[in-house]
Amino acid sequence: MSDVDWARVFDRSFTEQSRSTRQRVWREVYGQDYAEHAEPYSYVSRSELEEFAEHLQIGQSGAFVDLGCGRGGPGLVVALRTGARLIGLDISEVALADAEQAAQKFGLTERVEFRRGGFAATGLTDRCVHAVMSVDALTFALDKQQALTEMARILAPGGRLVFTSWDYKRTPDNRPPQVQDHRPLLERAGFQVLGYKETTDWRHRWQATSHGMITRRAELVEELGEERAVAMIAELQRQLDNQLPLVTRRILAIATRQ
Ligand SMILES: C[S@@+](CC[C@H](N)C(=O)[O-])C[C@H]1O[C@@H](n2cnc3c(N)ncnc32)[C@H](O)[C@@H]1O
Repeated sequence: MSDVDWARVFDRSFTEQSRSTRQRVWREVYGQDYAEHAEPYSYVSRSELEEFAEHLQIGQSGAFVDLGCGRGGPGLVVALRTGARLIGLDISEVALADAEQAAQKFGLTERVEFRRGGFAATGLTDRCVHAVMSVDALTFALDKQQALTEMARILAPGGRLVFTSWDYKRTPDNRPPQVQDHRPLLERAGFQVLGYKETTDWRHRWQATSHGMITRRAELVEELGEERAVAMIAELQRQLDNQLPLVTRRILAIATRQ
C-alpha cells in the first residue's frame, strides 16, 4: 500500500464525493449529534468536536494545527469555539481549496490558514504551536510512529494532541500499515497519554451510514451520475465486508507533549 498516491486518491474523492445525499444520511444516523456545521468528511460528531475544543486547551492567544484537515470544517469549528489561530494541513489540494472557502463562510480568514502538509512532513518549525488535532486522518499516515514524532516536534512542551483514529487487529489490504494500539507509539514520540477511549457508537455509525448510502442508490445516481454512484456503493460495501471486521475500535486520544 506504500505505493498508493494518497493525495491523488483524496483529490478524486473530494471531487467526486456526494455532499447532499451524504448530509441527509449522516443527519439521519447521528441525529442531534451530527456536526452539520462542520460538514465533516469523517465520523466526527458534534460532541467529539466539543471534546476537541476542551482538551486542546488553547486560548485566544494560542495556535493549533489540524493535520489531515480535509475541507476544514472540524478545525474551523474548534477555532470558532476557542478563539485560537488555526493552521490546517492536508495533502489534497482539492480539499484545501474547499477549506479556504469554508474559512470565508465561517468569517475566520483573518486567523486561519490552510496549506499543503502531511504527517511525514508538516513543513512547520519546531515547537511552533500549542496544540495539534487530527480527525480520522492518522490512519492514512504511512508510518504512524514517524507521524506522531512529527507532531511532537511542532508542539511546544506541555502542548496538547487530540486525535481520532482506529486501532486495527491487522492491516486491511487497502490501507497503509495500521497499529493495534497507539499508546506505546505516543509514549515513544515523547507524549504522556492523558486519555484514550473508544468513541460512542462508532461501529453502528459506520454500518448505518454505509447502509444509508448504499440504499440511496437512486439519489446518488442523480447527484453523481451512474458510474460514480456505482463505484461509491461498491467501495462502501467493500469497506463493510473487508475493512470493518479488522477494526478493534475507533479511539479518541488525548496526550500532552512532555
Ligand atoms: C477521512 S478524511 C478526514 C478529513 C477531515 N479531518 C474531516 O474530519 O472532515 C482524511 C483526510 O486525511 C488526509 N490525508 C491522507 N493522508 C494524509 C497525509 N499523509 N498527511 C496529511 N493528510 C492526509 C486526506 O486528504 C483527507 O483530507
